[in-house]
Amino acid sequence: MTPRNILNVFLLVVLVTVLSLNFVIRRDPGQRNVEIMAEMVNSVAYESQAENPAVVGGNTALQPVSGTIARGFMPLHYEATPEDAKRAGAELMNPFAAEDARSLDRGATVYANFCAVCHGATGLGDGPVTTRGFPPPPSLNGENALKMSDGQMFHILTYGQKNMPSYPSQVTRGDRWSVILYIRSLQKQTQRPTPPPPPPGVNP
Ligand code: HEC
Repeated sequence: MTPRNILNVFLLVVLVTVLSLNFVIRRDPGQRNVEIMAEMVNSVAYESQAENPAVVGGNTALQPVSGTIARGFMPLHYEATPEDAKRAGAELMNPFAAEDARSLDRGATVYANFCAVCHGATGLGDGPVTTRGFPPPPSLNGENALKMSDGQMFHILTYGQKNMPSYPSQVTRGDRWSVILYIRSLQKQTQRPTPPPPPPGVNP
């Protein structure tokens, strides 16, 4: 026998052995695998909702310290009432300054996405839905909106008012302030007197 044949016979034997072992040691899917260092899987620590004798109150999850505010859940101490809308108007201030270009830019995006459908691109209350039977909202450049304080607008955006929906689920707190900033800039644009026509003979 040549060495090559010996190797072939040897490999054949190995193959037959492996295949027959595979038949003998059949995996039983109904049986658990051997667990090595099971403590890694089954933690000895208490589950967060479980009873815990080592803690005052007996629950692993501790109660938050009173007065704690969860991240992302800033409370707003106003109700959806006309009185609180007035109070919000007197107490709340826009955290963004009028010259904050980033916030203004953000406000323009929010306005285009959430408000323009009803209020119209320039705030005149002529958005596309008003041509399909939705009662047109008052102009955001009208006297009422011009006099309205930022805080009161914030209250309207947060709780809605009559046909105006409430927006906290879609528009974050910061975005609501940004869009108010943008409404103010729209108002300034429409309040600006139209420039006088150029004198005759001057090429504009
Ligand atoms: C579904 C249509 C609709 C959408 C969308 C909408 N509004 Fe309104 N909005 C109204 C209506 C209608 C009113 C008038 C409510 C009333 O009668 O008091 C109103 C009133 C207002 C007022 C008070 C105006 C005033 O003179 O009393 C402000 C400010 C305002 N909306 C801002 C916004 C902003 C900002 C957005 C986008 C986040 C927005 N609205 C989205 C329909 C809408």
